[in-house]
Amino acid sequence: MCGIIGYIGDREATEVIIDGLTRLEYRGYDSAGIAVLNDSGIEIRKRPGKLKILKADLKKMPLSGHIGLGHTRWATHGLPNEPNAHPHTDCKKKLALVHNGIIENYQQLKDNLIKEGHRFKSYTDTEVIAHLVEKHYDGNLEEAVRRAVKELRGAYAIVVLHKDEPDKMVAARCESPLIVGIGKSENFLASDIPAVLKYTNKVIFMDNLEIASITKDSVKIMDYNKRPVKKKISEVKWDVTQAEKGGFKHFMLKEIHEQPKVISGILTARTRGSNIRFEELKIKDSALKRIKKIAIVACGTAYHAGLSGKYMTEWLAHVPVLVDTSSEFRYRSPIIDKNTLVIVISQSGETADTLAALREARKKGAKVLGIVNVLGSSIAREADGVIYTYAGPEIAVASTKAYTAQLATLYLFSLYLAGLRGQRPKAKIRAYLNELRRVPELIEKILKRYGMERSDMIQKAHEFNREYHRRLKLYYKGDPEGKRRAPNCCFLFLGRNVNYPSALEGALKLKEISYISSEGYPAGEMKHGPIALIDENPWVVCIVPDSDLHEKMISNIMEILARRGIVAAIATEGDEKLRKIGVDYIMEIPYIEQTLTPFLVAIPLQLLAYYVAREFGEEIDQPRNLAKSVTVE
Ligand code: M6R
Repeated sequence: MCGIIGYIGDREATEVIIDGLTRLEYRGYDSAGIAVLNDSGIEIRKRPGKLKILKADLKKMPLSGHIGLGHTRWATHGLPNEPNAHPHTDCKKKLALVHNGIIENYQQLKDNLIKEGHRFKSYTDTEVIAHLVEKHYDGNLEEAVRRAVKELRGAYAIVVLHKDEPDKMVAARCESPLIVGIGKSENFLASDIPAVLKYTNKVIFMDNLEIASITKDSVKIMDYNKRPVKKKISEVKWDVTQAEKGGFKHFMLKEIHEQPKVISGILTARTRGSNIRFEELKIKDSALKRIKKIAIVACGTAYHAGLSGKYMTEWLAHVPVLVDTSSEFRYRSPIIDKNTLVIVISQSGETADTLAALREARKKGAKVLGIVNVLGSSIAREADGVIYTYAGPEIAVASTKAYTAQLATLYLFSLYLAGLRGQRPKAKIRAYLNELRRVPELIEKILKRYGMERSDMIQKAHEFNREYHRRLKLYYKGDPEGKRRAPNCCFLFLGRNVNYPSALEGALKLKEISYISSEGYPAGEMKHGPIALIDENPWVVCIVPDSDLHEKMISNIMEILARRGIVAAIATEGDEKLRKIGVDYIMEIPYIEQTLTPFLVAIPLQLLAYYVAREFGEEIDQPRNLAKSVTVE
């Protein structure tokens, strides 16, 4: 959470920093700020609210200089106002500092610093670090940062510049991500790759407890004991256009449309005929053959992909799988040992709870496989083995293409295990692979029908919006004393088996970007509670593709219709039964083997969430209170 960037070189620092912050804004958008060092000293500009406010301000009153740093904030300590926005400074404004993370012992440090005479201007934990660096500074910024970070407890990635050493920037990392971008006569520091991709594709991934000192022509990395560290320079294959909107109104819509290409890319990279390969998977086949169970651990959308993965793996490879959210896994006592394979799934590879779960699992002796999107991220580096999902940069906070890429990776890994453990003959594996190869084209077909501006789904979202507001108005008009119950204008998502996770994901997508209450349930659970919600108000989205459980889903729908419920169904083309029973609205998907239906079902679910949010006029790519990568617990 929070995005940080630093630049040193011959360009105007403000331009590079604002461009970088634009690409990092998905990490937080409560406030933004920039500091530039020039002949007049350190000039700072910061504004509460979105980056566009700071941008407008800088347009009116530009800042000039060739070294600077910037920050986009997701507030943890202190309101999202101007004093709490980063960069922070010391008492004499000789240094500027940006930070991503949480300092756990900040109050104690702050009390001591105040006693020593330091004056604070904000309520943040970050300002403590600025004063600590000031306290330790005696002409050597690296040394001052080194001494300061030794006093910190918590998570941080920081970048600091100092007026007395105008050719240098120093950074340190503990738990929060930080990369160094290597340019020609210029260098960069950033939370994430897209921030520097326009200028360089050569990066160094900093590890925990490392300090970087950069000038425009050099990069030096050392550990906290001043020992130099030799780092590998990685070349990133992503290209900068992948992190741009490319004509789409929102990143989310663009990323939804990228899914066929992403899945095709995964298939090309991972398969040859009926062979599946995972080059970067460092866990040996012999170890995979020995495992007795799998534990999948992840958060949010990645957790839903993991739940689908359970159905895939148990069915294809016949290995027992348990699935947990990372925050639960890390604090219970999971029964895992060296015979367990723990799979952690994460788009960002930086999610704090998932990283902690990974460490917990390794401590217990389990082998950990990371299914990760971001190259060189903490999870990718700390896991015993990794499979990258090749989804390219995902910018919208609501995850879409990373989700289907995770599903594809899990399906392929399940098939790989099935082959390895002799659970499926080669011919069967080839047949399943061929079915998976149909997915990109079928998604393309769904997108052609519903992803376009003339889609009837847009009309439905519009109807929902109109009805929603009509009912609310009616309620408030007819009930001035508030005695009647407010209508349940919400969404329920129901699915069974491999599409129960799809229902959870549909509900998450809708609620996170439209702020409308929505719940996902296994349809069989309806009678155990949620059916009480049914009247003419909620929309019940039933996931009913052609499958062994189709009849069961039809029975659930009948029960809803019998209670005057409104049903929107996601069904296989030509489902006459559904038409006959009078379902209000049907979103059609082409036929595919049932275990693969989550891939196709995901598309209408994502589009429905997108259109509803757009109808309600919400900020789709940057929903309130959220951030793309949750690097704090
Ligand atoms: O980067 P990760 O995949 O570890 O992130 C996990 C969740 O924070 C993430 O999926 C979140 O739920 C998204 N906002 C969902 O759209």
